[in-house]
Amino acid sequence: MKLSESLHDVMTEFFCRQDQAEGGALHIEVEDPWTFSILCDLPQFPRLCIRSVNSGDVPALHELGVRLGPVSKDFFGPYPWEDPAALPQALQTAVEHAVERIDASYLIEGVGDEVIGYFFLWKAGGNPHSQRYQVQIPELGVAIADEFQGKGLGSLSVRILNAVGRDLCADAIELTTALNNEAGWNTYRSCGYQYTGIINNPLGVDVTAAFAGEVQAASYQPERQMVYVLNEKKRHDVMDYLAMKREAAADMFG
Ligand SMILES: CC(C)(COP(=O)(O)OP(=O)(O)OC[C@H]1O[C@@H](n2cnc3c(N)ncnc32)[C@H](O)[C@@H]1OP(=O)(O)O)[C@@H](O)C(=O)NCCC(=O)NCCS
Repeated sequence: MKLSESLHDVMTEFFCRQDQAEGGALHIEVEDPWTFSILCDLPQFPRLCIRSVNSGDVPALHELGVRLGPVSKDFFGPYPWEDPAALPQALQTAVEHAVERIDASYLIEGVGDEVIGYFFLWKAGGNPHSQRYQVQIPELGVAIADEFQGKGLGSLSVRILNAVGRDLCADAIELTTALNNEAGWNTYRSCGYQYTGIINNPLGVDVTAAFAGEVQAASYQPERQMVYVLNEKKRHDVMDYLAMKREAAADMFG
């Protein structure tokens, strides 16, 4: 199925969940999985725009940080939110990785370009760490601004990433979530993710870079590792890789 069709299906399902079976205006423009936009208008989300991150989006990521409260920042830990000296470079790198098609990254905006959410697949363009084990497995991240949480946008973001991962022929999508993150757990479960085990997770950094030994995290915490398998033929290889990663994390970050 073409990505434009999968995104259309994801949005139609979202409209149904929002009790808007008619859907209202919906405009989807897809160049490829790295460059697309979805525009729609719903009573609860007027002028909603979901689009690929572009080179001018560092201020938008800063704005997202302002819109995440302390608990959300604790749960969404890939950036050093509390370190004003390190944060600008970390967000700049995130944007560069999106533009260079290393990561597939997207923003959700509302009226007046207000930043509502941010979600991505790290190493969607190729994860050298997993590829060493003959599987392509990007890693998922998602954050919705506090005032917009609990309205269906987190699960919409994850379903969009599932469609992107499939279009990019990934074998699976991996993520980790804090043991006490019930919203995250419920979101991922309802989007088809299965629990695989506890993994020691590096904080404040790109996790894929930490596993590759490219960056060092200041701290770590045990999290739930979860997976969405896209290529059933490689399910065993995917599960073996994830188990190996849990063991490696215990050694590297233990
Ligand atoms: C986790 C997060 C992305 C979920 O997005 P959201 O828009 O709030 O969630 P949704 O409204 O799409 O709900 C998805 C599911 O989670 C459940 N859920 C939502 N908020 C919840 C909460 N506070 N407690 C328990 N379950 C919750 C919903 O009932 C829904 O379940 P269902 O599909 O079985 O009905 C969002 O809350 C967030 O950004 N939190 C802060 C950052 C974060 O935790 N990021 C993820 C790091 S792993």
